[in-house]
Amino acid sequence: MHERILNCLKSKSEHVSGEELSSLLKVSRQALWKHIQQLKDAGYDIVAVPHLGYRLVNSPDRLLPFEITHELRTKFIARKIHYFDTVSSTMDSAEELGIKGAPEGTVVISESQTKGRGRLARSWHSPKYKGIYLSLILRPKILPGATPVLTLLCAVSICEAINIACGLEAKIKWPNDILLQHKKLGGILTELNAEMDSTRFVIIGLGLNVNNDKNSLIPGATSLKEHNKHQLNRIQLLQEILRRIEANYLEFQEKGPSSIIQKWKAHNITLGKRIKLTYHEEYLEGMAVDIDKDGGLLLRNDAGLTQKVTSGDIVHCR
Ligand code: BTN
Repeated sequence: MHERILNCLKSKSEHVSGEELSSLLKVSRQALWKHIQQLKDAGYDIVAVPHLGYRLVNSPDRLLPFEITHELRTKFIARKIHYFDTVSSTMDSAEELGIKGAPEGTVVISESQTKGRGRLARSWHSPKYKGIYLSLILRPKILPGATPVLTLLCAVSICEAINIACGLEAKIKWPNDILLQHKKLGGILTELNAEMDSTRFVIIGLGLNVNNDKNSLIPGATSLKEHNKHQLNRIQLLQEILRRIEANYLEFQEKGPSSIIQKWKAHNITLGKRIKLTYHEEYLEGMAVDIDKDGGLLLRNDAGLTQKVTSGDIVHCR
C-alpha cells in the first residue's frame, strides 16, 4: 500500500485530495491517513493541506526496493531486490539466494555491513546510509575462466553511471578499483559458484563511497560527496549503475568481450604505466602493456618477456 500511495503522490506535482487517493487505492480515508502517518514516520515528508490534500515534498535517502524500481526500466537487472538495514556481507546473502535458484539479475542491497569484504581478504568499511553496498547475481553461459570480464564490465558501468549522475570522471585501476583523483572511491569483488567447466552463477559485489564525510574516510579513500561538495541522491546513482550494467551485459552477451574491453581501456589508468604487482608471495615489476579478452593484465618485464597476470595488488610507479 505504501508503494502505491507514493507512486500516486509522485505522479502529481500538485496536491492529491484524500478523496481521490482513497478512491484510487480503494481504502477508507481513515486507513489512508494511518498509512500516511507511517510513511511520515519512515522519513517521507508529506504535507496535508486542508481542502487541497496531500503532497510529497521529500523522500528519505534510503535504498528501498520500490524507490529503486520506480522508473528503473530494466529488463532483468534488479527486477528482484532483497533489502536489508544491516547484514554481515551482501555477498553471503547473495550466495544463499543463488544456491536456492534466485533468478539472474537478483540484487541484494544493505544500508550497512558488519563484515563487508574486499579483494585479497581485506575488509570493506560499510557505514550506514553513506555508501552503496550491493551484490548482483548473474548466470552467464560462459566458462569460469571467462568470468573476470564481468568485473571489468561492472567497473565500466560504474564509471559511466557516475559520469551521467554526477558529471565526474572516475577512473579504473586494474583490475577493479574505482578511483577519483587517484583516491579509492569504490571496488568490485567477484565470487564464483562454479565447477571446473561450468559456471553456476557469479556474484558481483560492488561497494561505493557516496555520502561519506571527508573525516570519516579511511586513508587513501574518497567519496563522491567530497568532490561534489553536497549530499548525493543515492537512489538515482544506483538506478543509473543498474541501467548501465544491464546495457553493457546485454552488449557482452550479443557481441562478446571486445567492446567491454575497449570501454575499460578508455576509463583505465593502468595501461602504459610501470607497475609493481604483488600476489601472495609473488612479486613482479614491469610495464602494463595490455589486457587480454578475459581481463588478464599483460605485464612486460625489463628482459622484454610478457606475462599474463589475473589477480594481485598493483602500485603505479611514478
Ligand atoms: C575491493 O575493492 O576490494 C572490493 C570491495 C567490494 C565491496 C563490496 S560492498 C558490497 C559487497 N559485499 C561485500 O562484503 N563486499 C562487496
